[in-house]
Amino acid sequence: AGIQILSGVRGSSSTGELLPSRRALPEPFTLPFRVPPVLSPVRSDATGDHYRVTQRAATAEILPGVRTPIWGYEGQFPGPTIRSVRGRRTVVTHRNELPVPVVVHLHGGHTPATEDGFPTDLLYPAGWTGAHEPMDGVMTHGSRDYAYPMAQPSATLWYHDHRMDFTGPAVWRGLAGFHLITDPAEASLALPSGDRDLPIMIADRSFDADGSLLYPSLDPTLLHTPGVREPYGSGVLGDVILVNGVPWPITEVPAARHRLRLLNASNARRYRLALDPPAPLVQIGADNGLLESPIRHDAIEIAPAQRFDVVVDFGRFRPGDVVTLRNEFGDRTTTPVMRFRVRPADGPDPSRIPDRPAAAPAPAGPVAVTRDLRFRHGTVNGMPGWTINGEPFDPGRAVAAPRLGDTEIWRLSSDFHHPIHLHLASFRVLSRGIAGPGAYDHGPKDTIDLRPAEQASILVRFTDHPGRYVFHCHNLEHEDMGMMGVFAVR
Ligand code: C2O
Ligand code: CU
Repeated sequence: AGIQILSGVRGSSSTGELLPSRRALPEPFTLPFRVPPVLSPVRSDATGDHYRVTQRAATAEILPGVRTPIWGYEGQFPGPTIRSVRGRRTVVTHRNELPVPVVVHLHGGHTPATEDGFPTDLLYPAGWTGAHEPMDGVMTHGSRDYAYPMAQPSATLWYHDHRMDFTGPAVWRGLAGFHLITDPAEASLALPSGDRDLPIMIADRSFDADGSLLYPSLDPTLLHTPGVREPYGSGVLGDVILVNGVPWPITEVPAARHRLRLLNASNARRYRLALDPPAPLVQIGADNGLLESPIRHDAIEIAPAQRFDVVVDFGRFRPGDVVTLRNEFGDRTTTPVMRFRVRPADGPDPSRIPDRPAAAPAPAGPVAVTRDLRFRHGTVNGMPGWTINGEPFDPGRAVAAPRLGDTEIWRLSSDFHHPIHLHLASFRVLSRGIAGPGAYDHGPKDTIDLRPAEQASILVRFTDHPGRYVFHCHNLEHEDMGMMGVFAVR
């Protein structure tokens, strides 16, 4: 345990690595696509559903015939999918059987502060004999409940580890899963559903010769491999693209509309996703819920933690056609993502793309405060790291203290690519530089892809809960190396 608790990122110089795998990799589009299993509640009553998740070390067959050690929710990567219905309280009892403390965050949840996974609210394994980090947080042992009110519209959320300084290595090892919310409004839209509603978690990884996952702080020699450095600050990048934990998978789809819930669960990699042969990706939802009107894209740029809910009509292809989801930002191994082989439709397609997936948001009140937040490279504990307004993360210091019910404008500026995520509140993008929102900025967001030397303004309403929350860069290596701040809703 002593070794693993030290295996975080802060204090190492692992900031810009493309990690080449050290073993033969499968050919793209040879392994079957799979959808993560949906978790069944252990009990339900009139007002809610109760789930149990054990976090444990396990092995997974990610590469054919190879057992890869992972950390998984229920020992799986991705973790099982949780499906909540809006307004029904969801309680998840997490039991920690890993050799390290954990924190669970429901990304995109409008969650009370005690349940949100503050990075120092640590859940230690039962019988933990290692040090208890002297931190400002709530400590529990063995297991604890996370209770989510789910009083928010339908959306594609996900859950993942969030321990201060150690999120990158924990997620890389497998601690991530989908959590979907549905509601009656969504159910009435006739969107593609059932096995035509596909969660697609995209994450890059690299593999060592023995099949284990490579992460730089687990192997310092990688930091000095000549020729593999990315420009400083890219975060940790793998050379294998996993979709729902499978390298470059392939699946058969009927010639009909499908809903693809695209999630970029990579530590640091950005993608530009497009279909080949070209076909529109019709966006119906963003990070935090459905759009007011669908948007047709030829390609979608997706930064870490973002979700794009899109409909693809495979009915425009002929049976036998193959359609590849490609990453136009990729290189030799990271351009392929997954492939669809079209088979004849098994009947008429009852789905449609709604003109108005969601109602327009209620008009915002007057803007109470405008804040400037600068996301920059800087010095953290005497080492190169990442800062907000010149300061690295301090769990005890609030960078912002909005009042409950207030509307604020946050002006975000960056030196480098930083996908900026706010807990608790969803926001709307008002502008990028002197222009309006970009092509990928529409709808209710919780993560904005800030590009180098860019300024963007977002409109945030702090309506849900008071308490202490974080906002941070979702490049997990940047987050672990300081680029996180507290906002305290009063
Ligand atoms: Cu997806 Cu604070 O994280
Ligand atoms: Cu960043």
